[in-house]
Amino acid sequence: DRLAIGIDIGGTKIAAGVVDEDGRLLAQSRRETPTTDPVAMVDAIAEITAEFREDWPVRALGVGAAGYVDASQSTVVFSPHLAWRHEPLRDAIARRTRLPVLVDNDANASGWAEWRFGAAQNEADLVMVTLGTGIGGAIVIDGQPYRGHFGIAGEFGHMQVVPDGRPCECGNSGCWEQYASGRVLQRRAQAAVEEGTSFGAALLAAADGNRARVDGTLVGRFAAQGEEEAVAWLTEVGDWLGVGLANVAAALDPGVFVVGGGVSANGDLLLGPARAAFGRSLTGRGYRAEARIVGAHLGPEAGLIGAADMARITARRRRLAS
Ligand code: BGC
Ligand code: NA
Ligand code: ZN
Repeated sequence: DRLAIGIDIGGTKIAAGVVDEDGRLLAQSRRETPTTDPVAMVDAIAEITAEFREDWPVRALGVGAAGYVDASQSTVVFSPHLAWRHEPLRDAIARRTRLPVLVDNDANASGWAEWRFGAAQNEADLVMVTLGTGIGGAIVIDGQPYRGHFGIAGEFGHMQVVPDGRPCECGNSGCWEQYASGRVLQRRAQAAVEEGTSFGAALLAAADGNRARVDGTLVGRFAAQGEEEAVAWLTEVGDWLGVGLANVAAALDPGVFVVGGGVSANGDLLLGPARAAFGRSLTGRGYRAEARIVGAHLGPEAGLIGAADMARITARRRRLAS
C-alpha cells in the first residue's frame, strides 16, 4: 500500500500524479478539462486513473477540490469559483475507479503536504494560506487536519476585511481574497492594459498581444526585474496578506504560517511586506512572540501530493481496522 493517486481539481484543469509514501511524485498528468461539467470531469479522472494503473499498483485515490467539502468528505457543497453545488464527488469517482477515494478541500490537501514533507515538517501545528485565484486555508493541529464541525474550517479567504468592499464570487463583499490573491494582480494588470498605460502596453507585449494571458504570473516576472508598478502591486497584496494573517493569528496563534499558491513564488517581494504588515497589525504586538511567515516548499504539486498522502493513510487505516 505504498502508492496513491493524487488529483488537484482547480477552475479549469485537473492535475494528477502517482505519489509514494515519502511524498515523491512518480508520474504526472494534467488535463485542461472544464470542471464546470462534473460528468466530463469524472470521465477525465477515470481515464487518468486507468492510465496510471497500467504502470503503478496504486491502492487509493485522493482529491483536493477548490470548494467546501462536507464533514463526511463525500460532497463538495459549495464553491465560489466553480459551478459545484452539492456535488457528490467521492461516490462518483469511487464508482468509476473502484478505489478507496478521499475528498478534501484543495488548500487542506496542500497544507497537509507542507506539514508532512515541506515547509512545516518539524512543527506540531501548521496554518497555511494558498494564494491563487482565491485564498485557501489549512489548519493542522497536533498532527491532525482540523476541518471544523461542518468540514469548512479554514476558509480564511472569505473573512471580511473591508466592510462593503469589493464583491466576492462567494456572494459576500470585502472578502480577504479580493485583496490578497493572484486574481488581484491579474485585475490590476488587465486594468492597466485597458487604460493603455505604458506598463499596460509592456504587459500586453510580454503576453504576445493576448489579453487573456496578462495575469499575476506575468506581473511577478516584471516585479522580479524591478519594474516599479509591478513591485507596488505585489507590495499591496503583501500588505493585505499581513493584515489578514494578523487576524488569523488572533484566532489561532500558530508558530508558523506557510504561504503557498502561485503568488508565493514571488518570495520576499510578497513576504517582506506581509511580515511588516503583520508586525504592524498583530494584537499585543511588542509584548508577545510572533509567528514566522515562510514560503511553501513543495510548489504547485503540493495539493495533489497531500491529497494522495491523506488517501493512502486513510485507506491503510481502514484496511487494518477491517
Ligand atoms: C475557496 C476555497 C479554496 C480557495 C483556493 C477559495 O475561494 O473558498 O475553498 O480552497 O479558494 O482554491
Ligand atoms: Na481549507
Ligand atoms: Zn468571499
